[in-house]
Amino acid sequence: NGEKGILRYRGIPVDQLAEHSTFVETAYLLINGELPTRRQLTRFSVLLNDHSLVHEDMREFFESFPRRAHPMGILTSMVNALRAFYPELPERSEEEEINVTFTRLLSKLRTMAAMSYKISRGHRVVYPRHDLTYAANFLNMMFDSPVRPYEIDDDLVDALNVFWILHADHEQNCSTAAVRLVGSARVNLYAAISAGISALWGPLHGGANQAVVEMLSEIEASGGDVDPFVARARDRNDPFRLMGFGHRVYKTYDPRAIIMKKMCDKVLKKLKRHDPLLDIARKLEEVALKDPYFIDHNLYPNVDFYTGIVLRAIGIPINMFTVMFAIGRLPGWISQWK
Ligand code: CMC
Repeated sequence: NGEKGILRYRGIPVDQLAEHSTFVETAYLLINGELPTRRQLTRFSVLLNDHSLVHEDMREFFESFPRRAHPMGILTSMVNALRAFYPELPERSEEEEINVTFTRLLSKLRTMAAMSYKISRGHRVVYPRHDLTYAANFLNMMFDSPVRPYEIDDDLVDALNVFWILHADHEQNCSTAAVRLVGSARVNLYAAISAGISALWGPLHGGANQAVVEMLSEIEASGGDVDPFVARARDRNDPFRLMGFGHRVYKTYDPRAIIMKKMCDKVLKKLKRHDPLLDIARKLEEVALKDPYFIDHNLYPNVDFYTGIVLRAIGIPINMFTVMFAIGRLPGWISQWK
C-alpha cells in the first residue's frame, strides 16, 4: 500500500519478518506461499547447503573477465551460463526440475557473488562451509583469507539478514517485470533471472544504492553543504535527481527505509564507528523533507537511501551493492516467475 507505506509478503508485514525471521525462511515463505515448519526449514537449509558449490569449470569463466568488470555484468552472464553447466535432466519430472533450479539459484548466486569479488581482487576463492548459516557463509566467503581469518559477528549477520529480507520482493518493479516477461516465453529460469539482474543494474532501480553513496561522497568532497544538491534536484533543466529519494509506489516514507535507518545506527554503534556520510544523509533528508518541491512531488527516502551506509560498515565494496540487492530480490523473482 504505497499511500500508507505498508509492505507485506504473503500477508506478513515486512517489519515483523525483519524482526523475527531470517532471509532463508522469508525466501521459503515467498516461494511456497507459507512459512515453513521447523522441519521444512531445516530441510530447505540442508538443500541450500548441498547446492552451494559452483562447478569448478565455471571458475575459468570468472577468471576471464577483465579485473575492472562490474560485478553486475559478471553476475548476469554467469547466471545465464548456469544452464550450460546444469542442463535439464530427462529423468527428472518438471516439478523436481523446477525445485532443484530454485534451490540451486538461491544457493549459487550467493557463492558466485562472493567468488566474483575474490577474483576481482586477485584473491583465492573461499568455499562455502556446511556449518555456517546462509548469511554467515556469505560474509565468510567474502572476507576470510589465509592471512586474516574472518571472525563472524552475529550482529552483522543479523544486519545482512534484515537487508536481504527487505529486498526480497516488491511487486511489479522493473526487474520483476523483466523476469516475468522473459519467463513468459517459457525460457529456462536461469535466463529469465539473468534478465532481471540486467534490469536491476540500472541506477533508477537497484543501482541506486551505489549511486546514493557516490552522491553522499560527492557532497562530502564538496564541503558537506547539501543545499546546492537539493537545488539541483529541483531544477527542471538539470537531469540530476536525489538518489535514494522517490518511489513509483510509495508516496510516503518507504517502510523499508525506516528499518534501514535504524539499522545504520545499530551497526555503526556495534562497530564503534562514525560514518560522516550518515551525518550528510540525515541532513539531506531533513532539508529535502521540508522543501516544497519534495513535498509537492511526494518524494521521501526509499530503501536505497540508507542501505549503502550499512553495507559499507559491513565491509561490502561499493561496486558490490547492487549484487547484494540481487541476492535479496532473488526469492521474489522466483516466486513471481512461479
Ligand atoms: N529527485 C528529484 N526529483 C524527482 C526524484 C528525485 N529522486 N524522483 C522523482 N522526481 C520528480 C521527477 O523529476 C518528476 O517531476 P515532474 O513531474 O515535475 O517532471 C516527478 O518527480 C515524477 O518522476 P517520475 O520519474 O515520473 O516518478 P516515478 O514515480 O515514476 O519514479 C523513481 C520513481 C524511483 C524512478 C524516481 O523517484 C527516481 O528516479 N528516484 C531516484 C532513483 C532511486 O532512488 N531509485 C531507487 C528506487 S527504490 C528501489 C528500487 O526499486 O530499486
